[in-house]
Amino acid sequence: MFKVNEHYLKLPGSYLFSTIGKKVNAYSAAHPEAKIIRLGIGDVTQPLAPSIIDALHGAVDEMGKAETFHGYAPDLGYEFLRNVIADNDYKARGCNISADEIFVSDGAKCDSSNIQEIFSLDNKIAVCDPVYPVYVDSNVMAGRTGEYDAKRETWSDVIYMPCTADNGFAPLLPSQTPDIIYLCFPNNPTGATINKTQLQEWVDYANRVGAVIIYDAAYEAYISEEDVPHSIYECEGARTCAIELRSFSKNAGFTGVRLGFTVIPKELKAGDVSLHALWARRHGTKYNGAPYIVQRAGEAVYSEAGKAQLKKQVAYYMNNAHYIYEGLKSAGYTVSGGVNAPYIWLKAPNGMTSWEFFDYLLEHVNVVGTPGSGFGPSGETYFRLTAFGSYENTVEAVERIKKMSI
Ligand SMILES: Cc1ncc(COP(=O)(O)O)c(C=O)c1O
Repeated sequence: MFKVNEHYLKLPGSYLFSTIGKKVNAYSAAHPEAKIIRLGIGDVTQPLAPSIIDALHGAVDEMGKAETFHGYAPDLGYEFLRNVIADNDYKARGCNISADEIFVSDGAKCDSSNIQEIFSLDNKIAVCDPVYPVYVDSNVMAGRTGEYDAKRETWSDVIYMPCTADNGFAPLLPSQTPDIIYLCFPNNPTGATINKTQLQEWVDYANRVGAVIIYDAAYEAYISEEDVPHSIYECEGARTCAIELRSFSKNAGFTGVRLGFTVIPKELKAGDVSLHALWARRHGTKYNGAPYIVQRAGEAVYSEAGKAQLKKQVAYYMNNAHYIYEGLKSAGYTVSGGVNAPYIWLKAPNGMTSWEFFDYLLEHVNVVGTPGSGFGPSGETYFRLTAFGSYENTVEAVERIKKMSI
């Protein structure tokens, strides 16, 4: 008789956004007239920029001719894409990362959940609390997290680093030593960032204790303040302790197109074993490359026209972020985020729990957000709104919330 991977059975409930989807669908079915505004899931709404569309069209035409047809992509990605990534995202920022340290993939969700595979099962992970749920859940599925405490909503073998209003939503160095540290800045869900000095402390700490940092920089394009690092490789010593994850979803609207990459410097080693070599082996065996068409679209992100168009797109969402932030603040809410990230993190009013506020907003003003508790116990009583909606919907949602009596 076959057996299932029992670690999957330990996962509490369904994936956060499936639960939200079910609740919204049930409400919608019961109130078909309701005009629901979704500011919950971090999905973009603006169409792809013209340069990206042109690149996609061009690549599709190439696929229709024998001379320019492309089959399987190279495991680690096409050179043309890895070169522009290395030049624009790293060399231009003074980071010493070469094209052959970049592994192109179909997005940061897969990379952030798969990367744990190359580490031993007895490694201890440390995560921010609240946190993008994929880091913990993928480690649960692998059997690395111990037992679940339903009351505290924590795993026995995970080190939680609370990110609260008291510490400016920036984690403190943990008192227990981890092997693998997940950091995400600008942060989902809190929208918080850390400055270069703070990130340098993490890099120094990881090198000192022999930990690896998995640095998720999916929201890097939203950084507006000078002192906030765009890459962990801006810090000295990061090449020996950090893996960086990037996505084309938020900077270029590729949530439905799918493209991302992982950077593993060649100096990053566990003893004599190169993590670069392990990930290359994993990629070669389990992944057949992001589509040629999509990689050409990714290349267009770095063209002069592409950069100009995407700058406007990011500004469009950040204008929404500003509108939400100021609107809710003026209505008396305690808000943060929204300056270097497309997320606004607000305190649920009147001592409501995150899910109570979720239900209240859905029922009273038909606005959907994300309950902070879905990201970890320290997210309880908080709520996340995204700036990824259309401007019109954002304005209407904020006006509805401002008029709502609580
Ligand atoms: C922190 C973080 N990392 C990764 C992802 C997923 O990115 P992708 O669309 O490239 O899979 C998200 C998506 O919301 C995210 O918030």
